[in-house]
Amino acid sequence: MHMNLKRWKSFDKEGRDTTTRGEKVKAAAIPEHVAIIMDGNGRWAKKRHLPRVAGHHEGMKTVRKITRIANRLGIKVLTLYAFSTENWKRPKLEVEYLMKLPEEFLSTYLPELKAENVKVQMMGCKEKIPLHTQRAINKAISETAQNDGLILNFALNYGSRDEIMRAVRNILMDVKNGIMNENELTEEVFHQYLMTHGLQDPDLLIRTSGEIRLSNFMLWQLAYTEFVFTDVLWPDFNEEHFLSAIEEYQKRSRRYGGLKSEEQSE
Ligand code: IPE
Ligand code: IPE
Ligand code: MG
Repeated sequence: MHMNLKRWKSFDKEGRDTTTRGEKVKAAAIPEHVAIIMDGNGRWAKKRHLPRVAGHHEGMKTVRKITRIANRLGIKVLTLYAFSTENWKRPKLEVEYLMKLPEEFLSTYLPELKAENVKVQMMGCKEKIPLHTQRAINKAISETAQNDGLILNFALNYGSRDEIMRAVRNILMDVKNGIMNENELTEEVFHQYLMTHGLQDPDLLIRTSGEIRLSNFMLWQLAYTEFVFTDVLWPDFNEEHFLSAIEEYQKRSRRYGGLKSEEQSE
């Protein structure tokens, strides 16, 4: 135990403990998959008498910051809810701006993401996404496909009900075409039909801006995820807030319907 502590603790020349909060968080159980509902951009802008899109632009910088920290902490997957299947209901200009953001984000930050060994992925329905956006995303996905660091998974035009319905339709089709036998349908097989196939379920879900709801996000995958809600608006969300959320996660006792291991042996 002592040996372990020494390994991640840092001391200055006088032997004073200079371990940072980040190092402490990293030494404890790090959530492998963190999913974030990045909410509150509009309110952030409104508070500053700015147009809503200014909040989205600022939120993009938070994406970069949090990605870098997640990578440093050794988180394996960071899933970010960027645009829901319901967000098309917003004013045309706002939707257009939101659809340009991935391109802007990637044209600014793709070189850095590549240098940091980040692997970009996307989940959501591509069909309705403008071609220029699709191209930028596909380029980022292919140029980072060989990276094996943090998986940065954007949920874009994503809706969990849409995802589940598509899975069900594809399963029905595969059964009909004899590709799958209906007796083979298990939870694991079902997962292979979801947009998160190949990814583990999130350990931690964070939603910013004080809303306490899922807004159609990862309904299947969040079955046993730990939730942390914060009032902080997404553009204001920083390293301290992120570390706080992980510290909160590290205090939780995950039982998955069973008992804690020490209770198990009683
Ligand atoms: C989150 O911020 C970004 C998207 C949903 C695309 P909002 O735009 O929802 O900001 P609020 O909730 O109106 O403040
Ligand atoms: C959820 O936020 C979607 C994203 C963050 C992309 P919304 O702002 O769209 O959710 P509601 O409408 O408040 O539930
Ligand atoms: Mg919102």
